[in-house]
Amino acid sequence: MSSKTPIYEGKAKKLFEGPEPGTLIQHFKDDATAFNAKKKGTIVGKGIINNKISEFLMTRLNDMGIPTHFIRGLNMREQLVRAVDIIPIEVIIRNYAAGSFAERFGAFEGEALGSPLIEFCLKDDRLGDPFIAEDHIFAFGVAAPEEIDEIRHYALRINDFLSGLFYGHGIRLIDLKLEFGRFYEGETEIIVLADEISPDTCRLWDIVTNDKMDKDRFRRDLGGTEEAYREVARRLGVLPNINVVEKASFADIKGGKAKPAKGKAKPVKAVKAVKPAPKAKGKPTPKKKK
Ligand SMILES: Nc1ncnc2c1ncn2[C@@H]1O[C@H](COP(=O)(O)OP(=O)(O)OP(=O)(O)O)[C@@H](O)[C@H]1O
Ligand SMILES: [Mg+2]
Repeated sequence: MSSKTPIYEGKAKKLFEGPEPGTLIQHFKDDATAFNAKKKGTIVGKGIINNKISEFLMTRLNDMGIPTHFIRGLNMREQLVRAVDIIPIEVIIRNYAAGSFAERFGAFEGEALGSPLIEFCLKDDRLGDPFIAEDHIFAFGVAAPEEIDEIRHYALRINDFLSGLFYGHGIRLIDLKLEFGRFYEGETEIIVLADEISPDTCRLWDIVTNDKMDKDRFRRDLGGTEEAYREVARRLGVLPNINVVEKASFADIKGGKAKPAKGKAKPVKAVKAVKPAPKAKGKPTPKKKK
């Protein structure tokens, strides 16, 4: 039995009191939810993978001078973070149209946006995390204009850095959701990136095949969710040992049909590079709107 003091249980994570004042333990669960928790399920191993991916990416961001809440990894499912006062907005950065955005604006999924675009949603499950404009944010006292300026600045830097990092591993960063928090050092307010960065919070597509490698596989019942999460971790070099227990390559599970494993487990093969269609010029292939 755990002797840790629980603070909060969310849909994907639990928070416990940390060992030092001003710290928290973030515990990553395998639980998955979508559509404001109307759809619920389990993605086996997700907690471990998201913990390790988030640890890896937050460390890289810390290294390049972007302040984050991450302090250190504790074990496979837990990390020590600085306790912050979460600014209750979801900061969404989009590089390509997808999901609700594509529907709203009649764009095709994968359509490139001219430049990264930032949207804000109020973090309020009761209201279904509605869109919120900056005027509302200021009028409701959710955040101050200077805080939003700083958040925008960090969000674009994070997006720029992560887009390049994922691209180097054959993954296109379609969009991502960030959360920021504040804490005080004396009189000085400091804003840091909080929560997590993982296939739960990013849309990630294979650069060659445009296969989805994120929570959309769960949202849309595409199958192969666990394998896709593992493939992201494998490509980033996080959890390298994961390969030895894998039975089907990510390429094999496209469309959700894993090939039955024959005999002994083999290491995961990388997705084979297929020459992109000439007119695609490296951008995602337009998909017909439904
Ligand atoms: N450093 C931190 N300090 C305090 N709270 C944090 C920190 N990092 C993340 N959180 C909060 O911890 C919770 C993590 O749990 P989880 O992601 O499961 O929540 P959730 O079910 O998605 O709910 P929510 O709608 O509140 O995000 C979130 O509410 C998140 O805002
Ligand atoms: Mg969350």
